[in-house]
Amino acid sequence: MIGKRILVGVSGGIAAYKIPMLVRLLTKERNEVKVVATDNALNFVSELTLQTLSKHKVYTDMFLPYEESTTEHISLSEWADVFVVAPATANIIGKYANGVANDALSTVLLAFEKKVFFAPAMNTAMYNNQAVQNNLKTLQSRGVELIEGEEGELACGSVGKGRMAEVEQIFESIDKYFSQAEDLRGKTFLVTAGPTVEQIDSVRYISNNSSGKMGYALAREILQRGGKVSLISGPVSETIEDNSNLNLVKVKSAEQMYEASMREFAKSDAAICSAAVADYTPKQVFSGKMKKKDQSLTIELEPTKDILKTLGQNKGEKIVVGFALESNDEVANAKKKLSSKNLDFIVLNSLNDKGAGFEYTTNKVTLIDKDSCVALPLKTKQEVAKDIINKIVALL
Ligand code: CTP
Repeated sequence: MIGKRILVGVSGGIAAYKIPMLVRLLTKERNEVKVVATDNALNFVSELTLQTLSKHKVYTDMFLPYEESTTEHISLSEWADVFVVAPATANIIGKYANGVANDALSTVLLAFEKKVFFAPAMNTAMYNNQAVQNNLKTLQSRGVELIEGEEGELACGSVGKGRMAEVEQIFESIDKYFSQAEDLRGKTFLVTAGPTVEQIDSVRYISNNSSGKMGYALAREILQRGGKVSLISGPVSETIEDNSNLNLVKVKSAEQMYEASMREFAKSDAAICSAAVADYTPKQVFSGKMKKKDQSLTIELEPTKDILKTLGQNKGEKIVVGFALESNDEVANAKKKLSSKNLDFIVLNSLNDKGAGFEYTTNKVTLIDKDSCVALPLKTKQEVAKDIINKIVALL
């Protein structure tokens, strides 16, 4: 990491006294650093120290009359490559998670569109508070990378979670990001996500509980690392930020997902099928609304096309990755799919794992290829996405 532009946001926690060391580590590697601090932060660390080490004035106020421009927060946001908030108090975590901008730090953060790191630091009880945990999950789901410290003794005397990560660890996380940041440049991915909807008549349909979260996390990871992605999504409430490298194709039925996937696969280097595609669809769609009758109803279903299998069979030099959702004989069933669908590897989800599955923001998966079977711990879907993409990068 040399010659990068880094914004360091300092909020008001005791760990702020360590931030001059972080600024020093960053500038030593010839990176340019600007500091945005809250008023409370400057109770713990001197403005002069931060200014001297960063060689720039410290930004604390939005509306000083002698500022060159009142929109300096926008230019600051545009200037930096990454934004690292350390220490990140419960207050700034809550503000950023909820879009609040009432001081320089929170305002510059909201205007910032690139990679954000948060190094939380607070008392253990505050850290464990459900509101803080929910806010942290929200931030992670939006792509913020949390740099968490080891459990240990805190300034207040309690022992547990909430200590800020050591500045060396913060430095390494940023360094790792830059070394990975562009590793997908020039690569195009196809990702399928969400459920499909198979109409029975004009108002009823067959579908499933897939939220699309895993597929959207994969697409975000690809974009963050400089790749292009065609995200073929069934109907979901999950959203993704606009990006010139993103081609979002919204579909409903398995047939539409199949058509879009075939078209986009031609332009792709790799495909990841995370969608929960219906295996069957009504043979006939009743036009209008079916009337209730005083007898049982049979709807005849016919198989849909297997998108993943078709891609696997036609993959040539491309990488094709599938998912398997299993409830019994998990590994054996996933291995069968790996070979019958001709995949490079398969991501196994077990219905028996707590915190994993459709509606969760976390997932517990096993990555299986023909030579290995690696069970990963419970992680956020964004972290799982990173593991999957790392494995693809190794294959590419
Ligand atoms: N898949 C697909 N097209 C289909 C059905 C499934 O692309 N018509 C993909 C899914 O996106 C997933 C993988 O196949 O990557 C496995 O889906 P899963 O439902 O676990 O397996 P199936 O092959 O449908 O077999 P089964 O339901 O019997 O377990």
